[in-house]
Parts: sequence; structure tokens; C-alpha cells
Amino acid sequence: MVLTVTPTTTMSVTHFFLLVFFFFFFSTTAYSAPHQPYPYGLAYRIDCGSATNTTDPFNTTWLSDRFYTGGVTGIVSEPLRFHYPYEKTLRFFPVSYGKKNCYVVPSLPNGTYFFRTFIVYDNYDGKSHTPSFDISVEGTVVFSWRSPWPELLSRDGAYSDLFAYVKDGEADVCFYSLATDPPVISSLELVQVDPSSYNSAGNDLVLVNYGRLSCGTNSWGPGFSDDADLFGRSWQSDKDSRSNSADVRTISTRNTISGTDVKPNYFPMKLYQSAVTVDGDSSLEYKLNVDAKLDYLVWLHFAEIDSTVKKAGDRVFDVFINDKNVTRIDIYKQVGSFAAYSWHYTVKNLSSSVLSVTLVAAKGAPLISGLENYALVPNDPSTIPEQVIAMKALKESLRIPERMGWNGDPCAPTNWDAWEGVTCRMNENKTALVISQIDLGSQGLKGYISEQIGLLSNLVSLNLSSNSLEGEIPSGLGQKSLTNLDLSNNQLTGSIPDSLASSSLQLVLLNGNLLEGRVPEQLYSVGVHGGAIDLYDNKGLCGVPSLPACPIFWENGRLSSRGKIAIGLSCLLVFCLIVLLVLIYIRKRRNDYDFGLPSELMSLAAKRNRYQRQKSLMVLEMESQHAKGLHPFTPQQ
Ligand SMILES: *[C@@H]1O[C@H](CO)[C@@H](O)[C@H](O)[C@H]1NC(C)=O
Ligand SMILES: *[C@@H]1O[C@H](CO)[C@@H](O)[C@H](O)[C@H]1NC(C)=O
Ligand SMILES: *[C@@H]1O[C@H](CO)[C@@H](O)[C@H](O)[C@H]1NC(C)=O
Ligand SMILES: *[C@@H]1O[C@H](CO)[C@@H](O)[C@H](O)[C@H]1NC(C)=O
Ligand SMILES: *[C@@H]1O[C@H](CO)[C@@H](O)[C@H](O)[C@H]1NC(C)=O
Ligand SMILES: *[C@@H]1O[C@H](CO)[C@@H](O)[C@H](O)[C@H]1NC(C)=O
Ligand SMILES: *[C@@H]1O[C@H](CO)[C@@H](O)[C@H](O)[C@H]1NC(C)=O
Repeated sequence: MVLTVTPTTTMSVTHFFLLVFFFFFFSTTAYSAPHQPYPYGLAYRIDCGSATNTTDPFNTTWLSDRFYTGGVTGIVSEPLRFHYPYEKTLRFFPVSYGKKNCYVVPSLPNGTYFFRTFIVYDNYDGKSHTPSFDISVEGTVVFSWRSPWPELLSRDGAYSDLFAYVKDGEADVCFYSLATDPPVISSLELVQVDPSSYNSAGNDLVLVNYGRLSCGTNSWGPGFSDDADLFGRSWQSDKDSRSNSADVRTISTRNTISGTDVKPNYFPMKLYQSAVTVDGDSSLEYKLNVDAKLDYLVWLHFAEIDSTVKKAGDRVFDVFINDKNVTRIDIYKQVGSFAAYSWHYTVKNLSSSVLSVTLVAAKGAPLISGLENYALVPNDPSTIPEQVIAMKALKESLRIPERMGWNGDPCAPTNWDAWEGVTCRMNENKTALVISQIDLGSQGLKGYISEQIGLLSNLVSLNLSSNSLEGEIPSGLGQKSLTNLDLSNNQLTGSIPDSLASSSLQLVLLNGNLLEGRVPEQLYSVGVHGGAIDLYDNKGLCGVPSLPACPIFWENGRLSSRGKIAIGLSCLLVFCLIVLLVLIYIRKRRNDYDFGLPSELMSLAAKRNRYQRQKSLMVLEMESQHAKGLHPFTPQQ
């Protein structure tokens, strides 16, 4: 069909363009409005240690404590010194809950999240001892708290934050106790952010905040003021990080700054409404404390808010990072005035513990609105997902006590101990961690062994001896890797699964259980081939040397495979017999027609139907007549 343009369609096309134009127009204006609708609405703000939901003075709702794996609630010693309810209560993890405890936020869409913790001690336990502990996010160590904490930190607490990628549908924030100190946390925030934010970061890096400064202001944002930041970032005053304070001048504006609160980073307008500059043409220097040996991502924020700067070239300066000239900045040339301009740079393999950012004037005085610095922490390898599933199933089925701290990833982070009793190693291509050994002898365990244990395809040694485990030995056990198996002195029932016979076992201790039935011959041969096997003291194991012979048809109260074969064979035999009899019968009946009928077969046939009988009688009659003339044939019996 050919499309013809009638006046009506022309009109609607015009309308369409108008609509597009208006939409475009509105959306561009909306971009510079301070509160653009934010598409990533998912946020959890957890008031750790609180039994009730609370609302802070900025109308932010904090959820009652949830998603933790253990621990005890507490309260700071001087609650009146704290402004917000969520800063006063806390959760701590005494060592009786294990070395490793976590907050695990479930059911999250995969993506990038902003994590923020508020950690405070304030002598909540009356012991005047600030604890040493580590915090990991998604299996990567991100914060290390070491006793003694600086006095101010201990009293007032501190916010720490980072961006991390959640890929398994749940966010893990884990705490690892050092020297039996109880880790402590007062609040935890999780905000979904744009996946392309801070666009140079990858999904396999955690961006840990090492300084987020707003120049020429007091600290602001969540935790400090009710100024909004859609990601939940708070911005510190730059005062303490500036190294030349004497000739620094602050300028600020109430004018709208364009290009703020936009995708993907949603930097708030307030950040660009103030700035610092210097008198004359001296340089402006910031020094940030960092940890050596990491890469850092530096973001610098600029906006020309001095209306005396009217054209490109009026204000030009060079940026030096750790004495390296990295770029030349002319804000007006880039975006004009009253518009946001951001620039970022990655510092590789930093060797010093200070990162310096110096703005050196080329024309006019340098000016800056904000500065961010993130350590790029590579994700620690984590346990391969199906082995995590197996370990969680075992935690459940073996009823692992809390004190063993089976929380978070079983193996990661690698510089913490794995779950108690668990040994891990790197897989062959060094991409992930796998479980190689489980040692849980004499731990008072009462559950059963989950079938999921079969997912542990790198398990070499399993020792669950001297517990009170019930149920059967799962048929999932018997993976190729398994060499040592000690399940002795439990209350395991049922028979030994054939799967065990197919593994490369060297040591098999199943003594002191309630096992019964036939021992797979191949398993028994472990002992013959230089390994060791102990089957002593069970309920009714049989069928290998030194054990009684198995009853032929029945094992463990059900039909044995031998029994099944025997029954199968007897059925076949009976069937063959019947076939044989019928054949003989037919053969004989054929004889009947020709010759005399033995009374026995006749009567059988007679019972079957009358016709047959009548015929037989008739045949008999005929035969008797016939016999008169011929020599009768006597059938041989
Ligand atoms: C807190 O709020 C959440 C969600 O708004 C709700 O599901 C929960 O029941 C509340 N908890 C309490 C203790 O009020
Ligand atoms: C907080 O929210 C309530 C209603 O939800 C409203 O009445 C009140 O004015 C708000 N307060 C502030 C400071 O925004
Ligand atoms: C998140 O990632 C996990 C593991 O890669 C996957 O199983 C799950 O389906 C993903 N969820 C979504 C919503 O993409
Ligand atoms: C810094 O580098 C820029 C180019 O990026 C160059 O134009 C400028 O002259 C350099 N400044 C100094 C002080 O070397
Ligand atoms: C990082 O720098 C140190 C010296 O400062 C050097 O020994 C090391 O090899 C560097 N590492 C990388 C990955 O470049
Ligand atoms: C690494 O090895 C595992 C099996 O051990 C395999 O599933 C995975 O695909 C391998 N990954 C790479 C990047 O080779
Ligand atoms: C299994 O653990 C128990 C108790 O910890 C220990 O006595 C036993 O020797 C272990 N078994 C093996 C085979 O190492």
C-alpha cells in the first residue's frame, strides 16, 4: 500500500513533531531541575539494633533491624550526644556467634549499589576497649577497624561508603572478628544506583570512598543535613584537606547550575553552587590520605560561578596529581558558566600514602567545586555458586551451631579464615574458590547429611565422625575427588550407597553406625588395595569377608537386587514351563485328532468348551470306527 499524505495526516505529523519538541524541551529543563525522578528507587536503610522502624528529622524512614545472621543489640553510652535515632542503637557480634557474621539483604536485582555503614563505639559495652575487626562487602574486604580507634572516631562514630556490584541477587556485608573482639555496626544503608555511574569502574571492582569533598561548604548530605543526594552520598567539608589555607577564598551562588542531577552520576546541584579559589595566581593544593599499592579513581568537579569570567581563556589552570601534569582545564570553554563540568582520572599503583591534587594557574586563578577519590579494590575471588548452595544446605541439614559462624561466603574473602572446619583452595584456572576439606568431627552435630553434598565436586576429605548424625549416607557422596571419608560413630542408617564404590577412596571409616545391607564389593576392595576400611559395629552389614553372608532375597527389609534377579529368573522359569506344557498339549491334541485321546487330556479339553468336547467325542467315535480297519498308533508317553 502506498502511503498518501492527506491534510489530516500532515496535521498529526506536525502534532507529533510538536509533541516531540515539547517532550524534548521539558526533559531538558527537567534535567536541570533539582529533583528529577530517579529511576533506581530501591533502598534499604537499616537501623541496626532497633526493634522499631524510626523516622529521622529529614523524614527518612529507617527500618527496624533485620537481615542479620546473629549478634546482640546495644546502645551507645551517651545517646543524648547523638542527633539521629539510627546512630544510637547498634548491633554487635560477640565471639559466641562465630568469627564471621553478616547482614544479607535478599531479593535484590543484580546491579550497582551504594553501601554505607555508620560505625560507633562510644563505650557501649563499658569495657573502654575499641574492637578490631574487618568488614567485607560481596566477599571483598573493604574496611579494617583496628584498636585503639582515634578518640573522636570512637566517641562520635564515622560513616564509610562504597559502590559495589551485586551479581547473585543478595547483598552480603560481613564482619570478621579479630582477637575475639566483637564487631559493631550502628546503621547500614543500601541504595541501588545507575549501573553506568562512575563509568570507568567495572563490575569486578569495588569503589571505596577515600574522600568526597565539597569545596567551600560545611559537610552536607545524608547524616549531616537534609540536602538531598539521590545516591545517598554525603559530602565533607574540604577545609581539612586543603594544604594552603591562607589565601583561599570561598565563593558561592544561588543560581541554577545546569547539568546537575543527571544520569548516570546524579551529582547534586548544591555541589556546584560553591567553590574555592585563590587570590592572585597562586596554586591550590589538596592532600588526601590513601593506602599505597592500590589504584585510585579521582573525580574533580567544576562550575564557573564567578560572573566576571565571561569567555573561554579567562580562567585556565593545569591539574597535577602527585606532581604529574594530567590535564589543562578551561571550564568556560567546556560548558560555559553556571554549568557543571566533571573530569576524572585513574592513578595506577600508587606508591605513597598521600595523594595530592594541585591546581596550577595558567591564566586567572584556579577554581574547584568538589573532589572525589575512590580506591579501586579488585573483587576477591568467591566460592563457585553451586558449592555455596551445597554448603548452605549442609549448614541447614547438619544444624551447624551459631558459634561456628557459618555465614556469608564459605571461603571468601581469602585473607579471612574459611568457615570453621572448612578448607578451601583456588580452582585450577584461579578464577574461583572451591571446598576441598570438611572437618567436623566431635562437634555435637545432630542433623543429617544433605544430598547436596554431591555438588562439592572438589571435596577430598570429609570427617563427620563422633556426632549424632541420623539418616542415610547420601548417594551424592562418592565424587571422584573424595579420598578420605570418616563417618564413624554416628547413627547413620540404611545401606552403603553404590556411589561410594565409584570414588577414589583410600580411607573409609563407617564403623559405629546403624548401617545394614550388602557392602558394595568395590568399596571393600579399598582395604585390599592398600587403603583402610572399617565397617565394624553396625546393625547388619553383610556380604564381604569377615561379615556374615547376606540373606539371599532380602536386605534392609526390602528386596535385594539379588532377590530381584532371583524372582526375575523364577518368573522366567515358570513362564518357560507353562510354554513347554502348552506345546506338549498342542502336540498331543494334534495326536488326538489322528489317534486315540488319553482320558486325562480329553477331560481337560472337555472342561474348556462343549464344542470341543462334542468334537472330541465325534472324533473318538470316528477313530473307534477307523481303528477297526487300521492298526492303531499308541502315543508314547
Ligand atoms: C517496618 O516497615 C516495614 C516496611 O515499611 C514493614 O514491613 C515492617 O513490618 C515494619 N516493622 C516494624 C517493626 O514496624
Ligand atoms: C514529613 O512527612 C510528613 C508526612 O509524611 C509531613 O507532614 C511533614 O511535614 C514532613 N516533614 C518534613 C520535615 O518534611
Ligand atoms: C542475578 O545473577 C544471578 C547469578 O548470576 C542469576 O542467577 C540471576 O538470575 C540474576 N538475576 C537477575 C534479576 O538478573
Ligand atoms: C600541562 O599539560 C598541558 C597539556 O595537557 C600543557 O598544555 C601545559 O602546558 C602543561 N603545564 C605545565 C605547567 O607543564
Ligand atoms: C607497583 O609499584 C611497585 C613499586 O612502587 C612495583 O614494585 C610493582 O611491581 C608495581 N605493580 C604493578 C602491578 O605495576
Ligand atoms: C575455570 O574452571 C572451571 C571449572 O573448574 C570452569 O567451569 C570455568 O569455566 C573456567 N573458567 C575459565 C575462565 O576458564
Ligand atoms: C576425624 O575427626 C576426629 C575428631 O576430630 C579425629 O579424632 C579423627 O582422627 C578424624 N579422622 C580422620 C580420618 O582423620
